[in-house]
Amino acid sequence: MISKPKCLTPLSSPSSSSSSSSLAIAAVAPLLRPRFYAETCPEAEYLVRDVIKKNMEREPRSAASVMRLQFHDCFVNGCDGSLLLDDTPNMLGEKLSLSNINSLRSYEVIDEAKETLERVCPGVVSCADILIMAARDAVVLSGGPNWEVKLGRQDSLTASQKDSDDIMPSPRANASYLIELFSKFNLSTKDLVALSGSHSIGKGRCFSIVFRLYNQSGTGRPDPAIEPIFREKLDKLCPQGGDGNVTGDLDATPERFDNQYFKDLMNGRGFLNSDQTLFTYPETREYVRLFSRNLNEFLKAFVEGMIKLGDLQSGRPGEIRQNCRVVNSRPADVLLET
Ligand code: HEM
Repeated sequence: MISKPKCLTPLSSPSSSSSSSSLAIAAVAPLLRPRFYAETCPEAEYLVRDVIKKNMEREPRSAASVMRLQFHDCFVNGCDGSLLLDDTPNMLGEKLSLSNINSLRSYEVIDEAKETLERVCPGVVSCADILIMAARDAVVLSGGPNWEVKLGRQDSLTASQKDSDDIMPSPRANASYLIELFSKFNLSTKDLVALSGSHSIGKGRCFSIVFRLYNQSGTGRPDPAIEPIFREKLDKLCPQGGDGNVTGDLDATPERFDNQYFKDLMNGRGFLNSDQTLFTYPETREYVRLFSRNLNEFLKAFVEGMIKLGDLQSGRPGEIRQNCRVVNSRPADVLLET
């Protein structure tokens, strides 16, 4: 059973239709809109893209790592930068949760973007918005589609390791679990398949696949959906008892945002169980076929999914953090320290 995420509501922009429940949330959650910083920090989007580009020149994989941050931030209490908070003596944040520990990376790229923006327009651009711009830019700079992002998010005042543990899906998940999980976030089966296409770029660890290579569903056997030559390759990369931190490509073109991922799934060459299951299950299989045949259909559906993902908001109070890793000091904190 998947528990319902706590008070998470997709918040529509004024131009799109809103349900009465999202209007109620809008009283506390800011309305998101394109060009939010046009007056207050006109260079914001240009500056973020420049940071992402320079980091990709240094390390191409940083594009994938940065893009993944949007998913892990937005699923846990909305897109509020909670993912970026470091643990404190009083708060266990999301960085060390089951899905994130030893896995999420490139936080320093977001720090660099924030430092750049703080120099140009201090106290204006939220870390939550930087994540959204950075994910879009990582896709564009990897050869994927461009789109206009809605901005105006605030940064959370807290983060919860437990919420991340409860919500983020495991690489062992199957399609029916993922369909149900995504539906809790107003994301359709088509959105699920299209968003999984983000695995068109980046890498995963052996840790995430050894169970499917050697003991799928406790059978003591490999996942029968893995194509044999590909399985031999994965067995060599990830021997039983080997180093779980060794990484493999999530598709055959891991630095190019394209529809190769879906072609690979059709050939039994998905890296994660949660990838390959999308072709095994009838409800998701047709979308895999469609996206593998038609690049534009994939790109269109992907952009729609990313926008819907970016609309998730908790409605909790927020702030514009000065440093993405810590909440700003407030009078109460200062009093406690004295
Ligand atoms: C559908 C459910 C999903 C599951 C179960 C899942 C799981 C995973 C896992 C296990 C990894 C490899 C992590 C590791 O081995 O350390 C990974 C990597 C990645 N995921 Fe997902 N993911 C899902 C959806 C998404 C979505 C919606 C996005 C973005 C919109 C995304 C973006 C990425 C990217 C770009 C990487 C590569 C990161 C890198 O190279 O550093 N994933 N995912």
